Amino acid sequence: MPNMILLPRAAEELKIPFVASGGMADARSLVAALAMGAAGMTMGTRFIATKEAPVHDNVKKKAIVAASELDTRLGTCVRFGTLNRVLKNAGVERLLDIERERGSKLKIEDIHDEVAGGLSQGDDRWATMDAGAWSCGMVVGLIHDIPTVKELIDRIMVGAERIILARLTGFLDAESKVPEGRLKSFASTQSPRWKTMPTYFCTTLEGRLTAEQKRKMAGEITRVHCEVTGAPSFFAQVIFQEVRPGDYFIGGAPLKHDQLFV
Ligand SMILES: Cc1cc2nc3c(=O)[nH]c(=O)nc-3n(C[C@H](O)[C@H](O)[C@H](O)COP(=O)(O)O)c2cc1C
Repeated sequence: MPNMILLPRAAEELKIPFVASGGMADARSLVAALAMGAAGMTMGTRFIATKEAPVHDNVKKKAIVAASELDTRLGTCVRFGTLNRVLKNAGVERLLDIERERGSKLKIEDIHDEVAGGLSQGDDRWATMDAGAWSCGMVVGLIHDIPTVKELIDRIMVGAERIILARLTGFLDAESKVPEGRLKSFASTQSPRWKTMPTYFCTTLEGRLTAEQKRKMAGEITRVHCEVTGAPSFFAQVIFQEVRPGDYFIGGAPLKHDQLFV
């Protein structure tokens, strides 16, 4: 049953937290799983293509990263009551030939060599990756690199925040015209880091800056803010305040110079 159906159904039935599994690879998977009621996700295939995974480099580079979502198949070991999804390779073809040939007489010993696994990481037989059948999800089509586990998890967490804050609240803004105040208070419930929106006030004399200069300054302030804090640009605001000559006092004396305060 696809997760699009399974997860909302699980949310309807279960009174305990549950996690989504199968087809999960990145921030989009996590946000989708959360939206459908899961409390988190697990990943199988995605972790094979990480630096720490104890499998041969050929498996990571030439099989997982190179494969598309169309390179797996179901159907091995059905006679033994399991339905496996595996990466298509010569080992799988041999296995299916044996299964077809032996039919109802199939014994586990007949296919042991193709399914036993257990090849050590340095085994030469990984050179072609056709040594046997091994589990691999369709999610392989979403795997394009080999990060460390830390890089992968950090990327997923930052990406998920970005999707929630920048993309999803953007829909609220555009579609339902939620007043900014309500939008801000909505965002503040999502993460303590955004309890207050970082705000930069730029004070100048009236007419001192052109619209283009203000746009460039706001862009630079936002860029530096994001670089330093790691926050999405959506959550930094820059507000220009203009004062008329004679309206600005420092130390009780009117400001004489043409200064800009941020
Ligand atoms: C290398 C590998 C070995 C696996 N071995 C088993 C297994 O022995 N038994 C099992 O029930 N599932 C096994 N699975 C399936 C995982 O438990 C899990 O359901 C699945 O990988 C999650 O989907 P994903 O790969 O799309 O993240 C295996 C998956 C992989 C990638």
